[in-house]
Amino acid sequence: MPAAVPVEDPSAGVIDLRSDTLTRPTPGMRAAIADAAVGDDVYGEDPEVNALEAEVAALLGHEAGLFCPTGSMANMLGVRMLVAPGQELLCDSMAHVVRAELGGHAVLGQVSTRTWPSERGRLDAAAALAMAVPDGGPYLVSTAAYAVENTHNFGGGTVQPLDELRTLWDGSREQGIAVHLDGARLWNAHVATGVPLEVYGSYADTISVCLSKGLGAPVGSVLVGSASLIAGARVWRKRYGGGMRQVGVVAAAGRYAMAHHLERLAVDHRNARRLAEALGAVDERLCDPAAVETNMVLLTWSTPAQAAAFTGAAAEAGILVSALGARAVRLVTHLDVDDSGLDRACDLLPGIAKAALQR
Ligand SMILES: Cc1ncc(COP(=O)(O)O)c(C=O)c1O
Repeated sequence: MPAAVPVEDPSAGVIDLRSDTLTRPTPGMRAAIADAAVGDDVYGEDPEVNALEAEVAALLGHEAGLFCPTGSMANMLGVRMLVAPGQELLCDSMAHVVRAELGGHAVLGQVSTRTWPSERGRLDAAAALAMAVPDGGPYLVSTAAYAVENTHNFGGGTVQPLDELRTLWDGSREQGIAVHLDGARLWNAHVATGVPLEVYGSYADTISVCLSKGLGAPVGSVLVGSASLIAGARVWRKRYGGGMRQVGVVAAAGRYAMAHHLERLAVDHRNARRLAEALGAVDERLCDPAAVETNMVLLTWSTPAQAAAFTGAAAEAGILVSALGARAVRLVTHLDVDDSGLDRACDLLPGIAKAALQR
């Protein structure tokens, strides 16, 4: 038998606040992975996948679910089922579907997009509804769907107001236009507000949720919708190369994550607020702790040089943060940022911010 190759932990000693996708499976999750019963999922015979799909669909009040390798694929399949080639998807200009899925909806789905501006990604349903062209005939692109993101990533973890979601849904029914919810972090919205997942689920035709973000699974997303939409998405998933075989080993991690890591998202939210309070105390223009709704903190610097100085000095101190734009920096709390890591970040980052503001 070949000798096992030793695996180094590249994150040892580093506090990684770049993203909640960086978590590593916990011992309990690894045990669930090891114990997973598996079968060929393309044959529909993987018990863990079947259970996961049914559980997520039930939680969101939909008929069926489809396990996908990524949130991007789940979004592309959801939109694909709602928007025919040449029709349009409306969404906000900072939505993940238009900024960070590398044009997949256009390249693979032949979808046209138009966007509305937003403050921190917050939905203004009346403005969105006013943009729609339900039947453009031979003159204008016809609107087939809206996409809403909850929580909003580039908006800084913004939770969408329930009354705006309801207004969009009611208006979309009158217009005959579908709604896709990019719920990569819908778990965070649910924990932050107490709004049941099923209620969020009732305001969308298709919903994607990620297991690989705050919930801490290594891989995986689920798309839910009606049985017929999901049957169609299953065909397209295979066509996109996303038909997976004994993938119960991954689905088991997702099921474990839902059972054990959902309620603890409140800890991430508290931690993000603590970071924002520490940094907001340095200069209130940097960030407003009251704007922190979930697990993200957005810092806005006066100049790109300040942002770069902060990011660079934080990295030297072993704290990684993300540059979101020339003057914007994002900090994300998650399962792998424990109390001692958070204390260290709250101790060190204000001094680093103060020095960066001198630039
Ligand atoms: C809001 C949102 N939607 C979708 C995705 C895509 O997920 P994935 O990276 O698994 O493709 C992300 C990833 O960060 C996201 O933040």
